[in-house]
Amino acid sequence: MAGQANETKTAFEAMGGHDTIRRVVNRFYDLMDSEPAYAELRAMHAPDLAPMRESLASFLAGWSGGPRDWFEQNPGKCMMSAHGGFAISQKTAAQWAEAMQRAIADCGPESRELGDALAKILSQLAMGMARD
Ligand code: HEM
Repeated sequence: MAGQANETKTAFEAMGGHDTIRRVVNRFYDLMDSEPAYAELRAMHAPDLAPMRESLASFLAGWSGGPRDWFEQNPGKCMMSAHGGFAISQKTAAQWAEAMQRAIADCGPESRELGDALAKILSQLAMGMARD
């Protein structure tokens, strides 16, 4: 048991840190930008997705236990209320969840178990934002 606490990794570390998060986030927005199935979700976003690639990657880093830059730059900002101004339906939430599941399956962490857990919790977060 000795030393076990020191071996405990954050989810951020276990999934491969910034490199994995950037790959997943870029794949997610590439899918959103190119797949007709996500057109409705895409239309809700600004034409230039570059700021969102930065913002979501930075949020996910802090959210998973890594560097907290996004949280320091957005003090007190709650992700659920930040989306309160968008008309998020079950349909667009499901598009978000599916694109994220695909992005994680395509280029997420090496561990299948960790990837599945990540996809599940992010999908639940997204579905919780639907207001219809
Ligand atoms: C449920 C479906 C979702 C929809 C339809 C949606 C839609 C949006 C839209 C339209 C924006 C503004 C984008 C822009 O200005 O171009 C945004 C921002 C953002 N979303 Fe979502 N979103 C969803 C779920 C999520 C989830 C589950 C997360 C986090 C795990 C998330 C994280 C973010 C972040 C970090 C920002 C930028 C906020 C900032 O840095 O100020 N979104 N979202």
